[in-house]
Amino acid sequence: MLEAMNLLIIPGSTRRASLNRQLARAAARLAAAAGLEPTVLELSVFDVPLYDADLEANGTPTDVLTLKALFAAAPGWLVVSPEYNGSYPPLLKNVFDWVSSPVRGHPVWADGARATRGKVVGVLSASPGAVGGLRAHTPLLHLLWTLGCWVSPAAWAVGRAHEAFDAHGQLREPDATAVRRVIESLAHAMWGLGSSQAVPGSSTAPGGSSEPTGGSATGAASSAP
Ligand SMILES: Cc1cc2nc3c(=O)[nH]c(=O)nc-3n(C[C@H](O)[C@H](O)[C@H](O)COP(=O)(O)O)c2cc1C
Repeated sequence: MLEAMNLLIIPGSTRRASLNRQLARAAARLAAAAGLEPTVLELSVFDVPLYDADLEANGTPTDVLTLKALFAAAPGWLVVSPEYNGSYPPLLKNVFDWVSSPVRGHPVWADGARATRGKVVGVLSASPGAVGGLRAHTPLLHLLWTLGCWVSPAAWAVGRAHEAFDAHGQLREPDATAVRRVIESLAHAMWGLGSSQAVPGSSTAPGGSSEPTGGSATGAASSAP
């Protein structure tokens, strides 16, 4: 029997009432129903300064190492991003810049692409506006390609997102069906690529047997209910 595969869901907002965090939680439920093992990453829990090479030269922050380990451990990600002025927010850029930056002399993270290369990634967005943050998608694709990710051709933008959820936080139609399609496409690619590529951090990965290290993520990420 095939093992369930971990899906790391990454909301690009830390706002308490964030529509994208709400979408991430709804997507986690749909992903669990599709047979994946989703984890929603709460970036507010991590102490990640603005990227600065001089600061990095004094040592990569511990929470960045934790994030590298979390990103590496999941074969697939679902990025759930707001649109800020036609792009994705600096929160995501900063996290991906840190996560992709090599840690000099580190047994695992000296390879800057170790946490990102080969990931299968889906993109969702949510906005109170009519087009749902769609303009954030193209810049995100370029970022993810640069990080060596396989980006799913299925994506979805939830417009008028403040009206898109019911009282239980479930996505209403037609968004629920559209997000389910994105997740199914992601699951399909994860299963397909998973059998033909090394999963970073896997003890069976050819050419590298060490587990990613960097600390525990307790409290930072929650599995789907
Ligand atoms: C700096 C800034 C720029 C924004 N630019 C856009 C935009 O270009 N398009 C859009 O649909 N919404 C834009 N918004 C509104 C966001 O979509 C809205 O605040 C959304 O709720 C943020 O996501 P969140 O609820 O997950 O925090 C912008 C918000 C901020 C703070």
